[in-house]
Amino acid sequence: MRLKGRKAIVTGAGQGIGRSIALKIAQEGADVVIAEMNPDTGTQTAREVEALGRKALFISIDVANPKQVQGMVDQVLRVWKRIDVLVNNAGFDRPGNLLQVKEEDWDAVLGVHLKGTLNCIQAVAPHMIENGYGKIVNLSSVWGKRGAVSEISYSTAKAGIIGLTKSVARELGRHQINVNVVLPGFILTPTVSKMAEKYRNMIIDNTPFKRVGQPEEVANVVLFLASDEASFVTGALVEVSGGWNM
Ligand SMILES: NC(=O)c1ccc[n+]([C@@H]2O[C@H](COP(=O)([O-])OP(=O)(O)OC[C@H]3O[C@@H](n4cnc5c(N)ncnc54)[C@H](O)[C@@H]3O)[C@@H](O)[C@H]2O)c1
Repeated sequence: MRLKGRKAIVTGAGQGIGRSIALKIAQEGADVVIAEMNPDTGTQTAREVEALGRKALFISIDVANPKQVQGMVDQVLRVWKRIDVLVNNAGFDRPGNLLQVKEEDWDAVLGVHLKGTLNCIQAVAPHMIENGYGKIVNLSSVWGKRGAVSEISYSTAKAGIIGLTKSVARELGRHQINVNVVLPGFILTPTVSKMAEKYRNMIIDNTPFKRVGQPEEVANVVLFLASDEASFVTGALVEVSGGWNM
């Protein structure tokens, strides 16, 4: 058990990659806070974590709201006394290109991904600094590195998460807090499965592995980065894309 006794927060853990991460780290011994805006899926993941013999705490939250995030962290520290792992996974996409993107979509996408990630890190950092221990894993995307047509807000937000990760890794390194970022390629989650077949096939064609990825394949990498096996890894970008972005 690589995370035995650890306390972790996973945002957006109601479905998809976040759910897989929550279950994976619970299998490895962590108690998990399911920080999720959808109460139906959030409570379902919490039940699945408990079925693995771990403690779960579902907290209904919008990560873009700093007050709600601070309230969540205060609650977790009151109940569980510590936070060892933070996984910033929550997010959504609102496609739009440069000339047509709506201001409200730009604000919402940057709000959930970039500000949401900052909010969560700011709220847990004082506690992790005090403990001299912490693992922070952020979810970006290969689109954050290479850009994407009609994904102006999303790829900008995901690029921002890479910059944020490196800056925070530099600031928190002296406290033995690891901060890393995972860049998934095309991973088959409920949201992505709605993508038109034409685009899906285009991505698969350009992927050396000639297939989509599974949420568990991202969760395995997050588990490694959240564990002490990655004790000297910080500020690293890890792509989980079947080679799509080479
Ligand atoms: N699936 C992919 O192919 C892929 C590729 C690259 C990056 N990613 C990134 O991985 C992460 C997970 O992707 P996914 O495909 O599993 O997404 P998903 O849409 O299946 O799940 C995202 C979860 O986040 C929750 N959420 C959304 N906004 C929230 C908010 N403001 N506060 C709290 N919870 C919120 C949703 O309710 C949902 O449960 C995202 O950050 C996504 O950008 C996914």
